[in-house]
Amino acid sequence: MRITSALASAVALIAPAVLAQSQCSQWSPCYREGYCDSSAMFCLWGLCDESKSYNSTSCWKPEGCASQTVTFDSTNDVVPINSYSGNPNANAFLSVFDPNYASVANGNLVLQMKYDASANKGFGATVDASHTFQYGKVTARVKTASVAPGVVSSFIVRNDQTGDEIDFEWVGKVPSQVQTNYYYRDVLDYTKMVAYDVKADTSADYHDYTIEWTENSIVWSVDAQPIRTLQRSSTFNSTGNTYMYPSTMGRIAFSIWDGGNSGAQGTQEWAGYPTPWSASTVYSMYVDSVNIECSGNSSSTPTGPSASESAGASATESGNNSDGGSGGNGGSPTSTPQKCIPRPVY
Ligand SMILES: *[C@@H]1O[C@H](CO)[C@@H](O)[C@H](O)[C@H]1NC(C)=O
Ligand SMILES: *[C@@H]1O[C@H](CO)[C@@H](O)[C@H](O)[C@H]1NC(C)=O
Ligand SMILES: *[C@@H]1O[C@H](CO)[C@@H](O)[C@H](O)[C@H]1NC(C)=O
Ligand SMILES: *[C@@H]1O[C@H](CO)[C@@H](O)[C@H](O)[C@H]1NC(C)=O
Repeated sequence: MRITSALASAVALIAPAVLAQSQCSQWSPCYREGYCDSSAMFCLWGLCDESKSYNSTSCWKPEGCASQTVTFDSTNDVVPINSYSGNPNANAFLSVFDPNYASVANGNLVLQMKYDASANKGFGATVDASHTFQYGKVTARVKTASVAPGVVSSFIVRNDQTGDEIDFEWVGKVPSQVQTNYYYRDVLDYTKMVAYDVKADTSADYHDYTIEWTENSIVWSVDAQPIRTLQRSSTFNSTGNTYMYPSTMGRIAFSIWDGGNSGAQGTQEWAGYPTPWSASTVYSMYVDSVNIECSGNSSSTPTGPSASESAGASATESGNNSDGGSGGNGGSPTSTPQKCIPRPVY
């Protein structure tokens, strides 16, 4: 399950305009969680709530899928979202929490969790892919942070706006286990989780975890062995006449968080508790590489730049793109997400 953002800690830093009316102004056009601003933290597709933003072009357009292997050999592979220029080909992942405990080190993406005395629990890290993903295969080579009860590591595909989500999760309580799960439109249904015994300590060595997502099925694999298949057909809800199957474009994301001190009893029992903490404790999750193969018509059809742009990204966007085969932005220069007009200084 995705822990929703630590925006509250971040807003003080960037001081966005507090939402006064039902809509944001053209100077702070992007709406997110009760605030308006013009930065990536607010305007990024999926984080930005289009229905409450200044107008229908305020939120950045979805970037589309990019077939690529990210090896975390460059510090550019993950940047704090506050310093993101808007060019998804320049930075594969964006760290969305502040303080930022995600970094590149020794060829890995490292997500750390540290003790936050004011909250009396761990403050972790979450990174979102800068490209969107809808249908395809993603494999992450992960060494988990399952070294103590309560520490949760996750590798998911999620759409924050619709609540569709596909998960791998590891709980510190059971270091040899990986859990697979999915959510349809944020419907909380605790019966969908299936655990799998990796037969090894997932925090001791890297393993390959794969999500293969098509319109008709989701296959979760560990070290190339399928461990679970969900057929869309099996998710039919006859009452609602709906397939309760994740079907909206999302972002690949990694996260470490404190389930053991979360305060919710069910979460604590699930993750193990209490999470052991001293002032100097640091828990770390490592991602060695992420291989993404886009499939199908995964691209968005961007409708062009918003009228108000200043765009940090335009010139450097390559026509060629790493957007494999079918997906991506089709190489159109208008597909670059547009930065909004900066807020005026009052
Ligand atoms: C099926 O759909 C109905 C109507 O939308 C909803 O109330 C119900 O909770 C759904 N069932 C499950 C298992 O989610
Ligand atoms: C992909 O394209 C086919 C044919 O154009 C269409 O029927 C299908 O709905 C598309 N799928 C998505 C996810 O857009
Ligand atoms: C959105 O707002 C901009 C000004 O910020 C304006 O130029 C544009 O026409 C608006 N678009 C729509 C669809 O209202
Ligand atoms: C596209 O890719 C080819 C081959 O990799 C390269 O030679 C060319 O310079 C690229 N073009 C652009 C616009 O990046």
